[in-house]
Order: sequence, then C-alpha cells, then structure tokens
Amino acid sequence: MSAGNWPGVANRLDVRGRAIGVACNVTSAGDVEALCAAATDTFGALDIMVNNAGITRDATMRKMTESELDQVIDVHLKGCCLGTRAASLRMREQDRGGSIINVSSISGKVGMLGQTNYSAAKAGIVGLTKAAAKEVGFANVRVNAIQPGIIRTPMTDSLREDVMAKKLAEVPMGRAGEPGEVASVVLFLASDMSSYMSGTVLEIAGGRHI
Ligand SMILES: NC(=O)c1ccc[n+]([C@@H]2O[C@H](COP(=O)([O-])OP(=O)(O)OC[C@H]3O[C@@H](n4cnc5c(N)ncnc54)[C@H](O)[C@@H]3O)[C@@H](O)[C@H]2O)c1
Repeated sequence: MSAGNWPGVANRLDVRGRAIGVACNVTSAGDVEALCAAATDTFGALDIMVNNAGITRDATMRKMTESELDQVIDVHLKGCCLGTRAASLRMREQDRGGSIINVSSISGKVGMLGQTNYSAAKAGIVGLTKAAAKEVGFANVRVNAIQPGIIRTPMTDSLREDVMAKKLAEVPMGRAGEPGEVASVVLFLASDMSSYMSGTVLEIAGGRHI
C-alpha cells in the first residue's frame, strides 16, 4: 500500500470536510513522511500524531515463526519509531511544538503468554517514548504513551470466549474497555490539559495489572 489521497475513510468521519484520508504503511519511512507532509500541506501545521497501527501474530515461542516476529516488531516498534521521528522533525520547527501519543499496551508492562513478539514491541514503545521525550522536549514537543488493557475492537473480537472471560476476570472493574474510553485519554494527552506531561505512560485497563 503506498501513500496517496484516500478519501473513503475521511468521508466516514463526521468532521464536516475537516479531514483527509492518506494511505500509509507505517513500516515504510517514505509513507510515514508523506503522511506528515500531507497533514502539514493541508492544515498548515502538524500538532498531534497518534501512532496507533497494530497487528497480532500470537504464538508460543516454540511455534512462532521468524516472519511472525518480524511483522509484529515492524508494525508496532518500527512504525512508532518512524512516526515519532517524522512528526517530531516537523513539530520542532513550529513555535507551539506538538504532542505525540504512542499506543503501547499493558502487554508491554507485564508480558502476555503467547505474545513475546507483541509484548517486546509494546515494551520497546515505552523506551522509545521516554528517549524521544528527552530529545525533543526543548522544542515543546511532548511524547507520551498509553497502555490499554482489554478493549472491545476488531483486534479482540477474534479472541475465544473462554480466553476473553479469563482476561475479564482479572479486571477489577469487571468489564472490557470501549474504544471511546481510550480515545478520551488520547485526547487529554493531545490537548493543552496535559501541557506539562512528557515521557509518561498512562494505563487504561480498568485497574488490571496495577
Ligand atoms: N484492542 C485491545 O484490547 C488493545 C489493547 C492494548 C493495545 N491495543 C493497541 O491499540 C492499537 C489499535 O488496535 P485496535 O484494537 O483498534 O486494533 P484494530 O485491529 O481494530 O486496528 C489496528 C489498525 O492498524 C492498521 N494497521 C495494521 N498494520 C498497519 C500498517 N503496516 N500500516 C498502517 N496501518 C496498519 C489496521 O489496518 C487497523 O486499522 C494497536 O496498536 C493495538 O496494539 C489494543
């Protein structure tokens, strides 16, 4: 998939013409740079970057293929690195700086069975976030990470019922999170309400794995 105008997604958003869609494979530096350029060209600045793309290729270490390891590290960790770099390069040239939010996971905090690839990538995102926050803080570019727990999205829809029930039993709040409950924390980190926060990791997991 190469970068280019991709109006389908933007048309599905209720933003009255204030959105554009750009196809982007986050594992391609060229695509990620083109995405940031499209945002700057269209809106005059790049204020917020959310590195959210993700895949799972779950398997125990014994069964995991090299390709399953590479794919997950590429999309999550390399994708976040490329997005953080491309966005911060533009944001540091702006007087007002910017806010970058990297989507890690509670798996990156505690490690999940059958997810050595995913847990490693998500833990790596925490290191990336903290190092990047130190590099670009001088330019008022903030870099933070979030660690969602179990959230109802297509990624978790495919989980077996018994696996889901086991996970939910570990959540003190007794339920899965909704995408909107993650989005509102991203909005907080994107906004000036978090203007003195950088290099932090916020958990959105209903109290699971505290
Ligand atoms: N759902 C959960 O319980 C949960 C928990 C913790 C963290 N997360 C993280 O939240 C983020 C969003 O996941 P989700 O649950 O909405 O999953 P999802 O499968 O609904 O969405 C993932 C999106 O990433 C996109 N994507 C995959 N590879 C890509 C690539 N190379 N380039 C560009 N886009 C790509 C997919 O097209 C998809 O739209 C992911 O980083 C995931 O790891 C999810």
